[in-house]
Amino acid sequence: MNRIFSGIQPTGNLHLGNYLGAIRNWVALQPEYECIFCVVDLHALTQSVDPAELRATTREVTAAYIAAGIDPERSIIFNQSMVTAHSELAWILSCLTPLGWLNRMTQFKEKAGKQREMAGLGLYAYPVLMAADIIGYKATHVPVGEDQKQHVELARDIAGAFNRRYERDFFPLPEPLILGEATRVMSLRDGTKKMSKSDSSDYSRLNMTDDADAVALKVRRAKTDPEPLPETLEALEARPEADNLVGIYAALSDVSREQALRRFAGKNFSTFKEALSEVAVSVLGPIGKEMRRLMADPGHIDAVLRHGAERAAAIAIPILREVQDITGLLRP
Ligand code: TYM
Repeated sequence: MNRIFSGIQPTGNLHLGNYLGAIRNWVALQPEYECIFCVVDLHALTQSVDPAELRATTREVTAAYIAAGIDPERSIIFNQSMVTAHSELAWILSCLTPLGWLNRMTQFKEKAGKQREMAGLGLYAYPVLMAADIIGYKATHVPVGEDQKQHVELARDIAGAFNRRYERDFFPLPEPLILGEATRVMSLRDGTKKMSKSDSSDYSRLNMTDDADAVALKVRRAKTDPEPLPETLEALEARPEADNLVGIYAALSDVSREQALRRFAGKNFSTFKEALSEVAVSVLGPIGKEMRRLMADPGHIDAVLRHGAERAAAIAIPILREVQDITGLLRP
């Protein structure tokens, strides 16, 4: 059986990178897999976050999943903290994870920055909780953006470590699914930096809730070079800002980079940016509108999450009980 698990942290504004690197691919995979989509609120606690804001953002991410086309009856949508198996399994897995593996994680190094001594244990242990999220459901596939590949590979290594330690094929080894033409969406202001929730410049990212005016303005202001669009992919790849915008256009239009380039080769950026704005508004506009409609009824969103958590727990708790048996823990 093929089972997907993936999630997004409820921190800051959801942006085009989250949409193209993750949610849009989830919607496409939904008919073919059993899917579990989580709002990973425990992960969000690794950075200091205001409690009221965490509640609001958890609901906003849930609204984004539904507005983008995840069907909460067909797939499971829930927030991580409602299913306690995640943190219980994370402890067991942390006892099998060598520090050397965690020391290799590039995201910890980026997030902890120069203040390494002050970084929280949670931030360091975060990939182990992510491994528990994934393998705690015996998920086989994990659709994510490029930046999460290393974490999914670590989950695979931890699953293997458990299987070896207890000499059985208990956890399947999960595989990352990195799909589409925009697996690493870059900042609109700097083609060498990832588009991220934490960038202080509002012009660096398109948010999922941006209206048509905001989208048009940000695309117009996006950094480019003075040359027209090139003829070949090789020439495009040498120009990071142009490459990023063409990748975004291709992903939003469901065409390949090559096809997108064929449409605009030799044209100048003002023509291309108009087309990019148009397609971004046509895709994000209805999603943003539906998100706002859903967020006006937090009671409904909470009911979706509770229903999802019941279904998630029905899968995760029996797996955790087996893990407890295997490891020798007396269990309820
Ligand atoms: P997070 O919340 O940072 O990002 C959520 C998803 O969006 C993708 N993404 C991007 N894709 C392309 N370009 C970008 N600029 C960009 N920025 C973000 C991410 O790759 C991700 O797919 N640790 C995870 C959350 C998590 C998780 C999990 C994911 C926790 N448990 C289990 C999968 C499975 C994270 O912080 O993602």
